[in-house]
Amino acid sequence: MRGSHPRSAILGTGSELPSRVITNAALERLVDTSDQWITTRTGIKERRVLEEGKGTADMAYRAAVRALKDAGMEAKDLDAIIMGTVTPDYPFPSSACVLENMLGARKVFSFDVNAACSGFLNALAIADSLVRTGMIRHALVVGSDALSRMLNWKDRTTCILFGDGAGAVVVGPSHDGARGILSTRLRTDGSHVKTLYVPAGGSLKPASAESVRKNEHTIAMNGKEVFKIAVRSMDGISREALDEADVSIDQVSLVIPHQANLRIITALAERLKVPMSKVMVNLDRYGNTSAASVPVALDEARKEGRIQRGDIVLLNAFGAGFAWGAAVIRF
Ligand code: ACO
Repeated sequence: MRGSHPRSAILGTGSELPSRVITNAALERLVDTSDQWITTRTGIKERRVLEEGKGTADMAYRAAVRALKDAGMEAKDLDAIIMGTVTPDYPFPSSACVLENMLGARKVFSFDVNAACSGFLNALAIADSLVRTGMIRHALVVGSDALSRMLNWKDRTTCILFGDGAGAVVVGPSHDGARGILSTRLRTDGSHVKTLYVPAGGSLKPASAESVRKNEHTIAMNGKEVFKIAVRSMDGISREALDEADVSIDQVSLVIPHQANLRIITALAERLKVPMSKVMVNLDRYGNTSAASVPVALDEARKEGRIQRGDIVLLNAFGAGFAWGAAVIRF
């Protein structure tokens, strides 16, 4: 329960998308697919791919600088950096530590959260709790992923879906008691680990010549299974978050769902009984950017003027684990 603790709020947002664009037409030259198939089955038209020699923290840095500027703050004002990512620059240390050094933040503790596409929501919920308990005042919360680095570009069932990007928000005490993060809900179900995973590169199956030859460092997925469970889970967790915030779906001005597949989003909107005019969609331009998807869409929605002061926004996400979550925020 939230109790009587002061609320936390999102004080600034920022995002970064790499400049290199891969269109569906370009993918037609790589695998047996078509723009028509990808568009009708997913809604995706193009995605961004991070240039070689750059890592997840490089994208995160640009998004973070913009979020800090938007919040009117500097890196020295931060107490924590929490990054949702499954594509860190190194197996260790965390990309949050890499980012901390890039930003020149000096009095922080920084760590990554591995919850795949739900990583940003998990990081946001942690930051919200830390601020509300008074342990910290300001956190930088980032979702940054470069899934292009984990794709088998010969597998048409996965390589068409994903893209790279980063989104960041600054979380701190709400200046106004009515505004801020009203609720967060998180869930996992570890019985589906192998429905969506990268088989090798961890302690169970370290990198070897054989694992590379078998393409086991790339995403393996049962798309149909993910699809079904994603819709059901995001619907359920969104309702829980709305209940906890004591907000009805009619009071929500904008839903910002994880950008995985337009068909997942429309099915979710139907279940939630929300018109698509109240649902943020940008996956046509970026594909599924994993942990970056929700914060990038949030930043774009704000820049497009789709979120006004006092508006209630519902965020939700679903990803590997399975891990999923939702948050209700009054801006
Ligand atoms: N181009 C052309 N044909 C294709 C392609 C492609 N890119 N991919 C698959 N096909 C073929 C299949 O081989 C199949 O052919 P067949 O009937 O001859 O066997 C046919 O198209 C239909 O394939 P399905 O898998 O049934 O297609 P479906 O409508 O389920 O769409 C998709 C597949 C897009 C993957 C969908 O299931 C989906 O979006 N699932 C969710 C995936 C997802 O979001 N994953 C990420 C979760 S987030 C995270 O944590 C990373």
